[in-house]
Amino acid sequence: MINKCLFPAAGYGTRFLPATKATPKEMLPVLTKPLIQYGVEEALEAGISTMAIVTGRGKRAIEDHFDISYELEHQIKGTSKEPLLDEIRSLINQCTFSYTRQTEMKGLGHAILTGETLIGKESFAVVLADDLCTPAGYTEGILSQMVAIYEKYQCSIIAIEEVSPENTDKYGIIAGHLIDNTDDIYRVTDMVEKPSPQEAPTNLAIIGRYILTPDIFDILRMTQPGKGGEIQLTDALLEQAKQRKVIAYRFKGTRFDCGSVNGFVEATNYFFKKGEK
Ligand code: G1P
Repeated sequence: MINKCLFPAAGYGTRFLPATKATPKEMLPVLTKPLIQYGVEEALEAGISTMAIVTGRGKRAIEDHFDISYELEHQIKGTSKEPLLDEIRSLINQCTFSYTRQTEMKGLGHAILTGETLIGKESFAVVLADDLCTPAGYTEGILSQMVAIYEKYQCSIIAIEEVSPENTDKYGIIAGHLIDNTDDIYRVTDMVEKPSPQEAPTNLAIIGRYILTPDIFDILRMTQPGKGGEIQLTDALLEQAKQRKVIAYRFKGTRFDCGSVNGFVEATNYFFKKGEK
């Protein structure tokens, strides 16, 4: 069983400046919902109700979003606007939220390690809210698909998709053996953080959905700064992969890179056309 989902949400979101000067990037809305809410909904759909959020300075809006706003609720009670809060109210009722702050930005691996205090010694999911995922025609969300795979293999699971070869330097890239043709499941043998197209072992890229076993924390504590001088989750996962303990899963669905303006616009158009709001 996976009970907790960690959301690293301390980054600056520099690609969206000036919008992210005083607003957390996780709170940028795709239509009427902030990015992080899509991630929380995906976790809840996967049966996970404890949300552990690693924040930083200037990120208080995230905490306020997942809380009651008494004044606002009082103002719109009984009006036609009240139903607009139904969805977020229902999330708040079904989930618990806990927070810790990352005081220095030392990379994704460091953010995950900062979250240890909220997770403890159990396997957990990780959602990078920048990667907005939707099952798009499939019945189950991406995290839900991954929980099922974790139940079978009982090791760390990472979501992957094919990217064009010239884009390998934007992602963690894996190499592995296909072990289940029907489900696109690989046993990972190698992982490299953001390699150039020449160095990349494949074009199978890690996207921001993981299920991690708790030994990752001890490995992260030992992990030296890697690409960009940051502590990289990819490097820590490579240690698990050497022990044959990482599975990569080519998920069913669509992912939008909402960390980039293009991806954000694509996501907005997709959900608008779908008639979400
Ligand atoms: C992080 C990871 C990278 C992964 C990516 C997915 O990079 O380090 O391995 O492919 O998320 O979005 P970031 O996008 O935070 O630079």
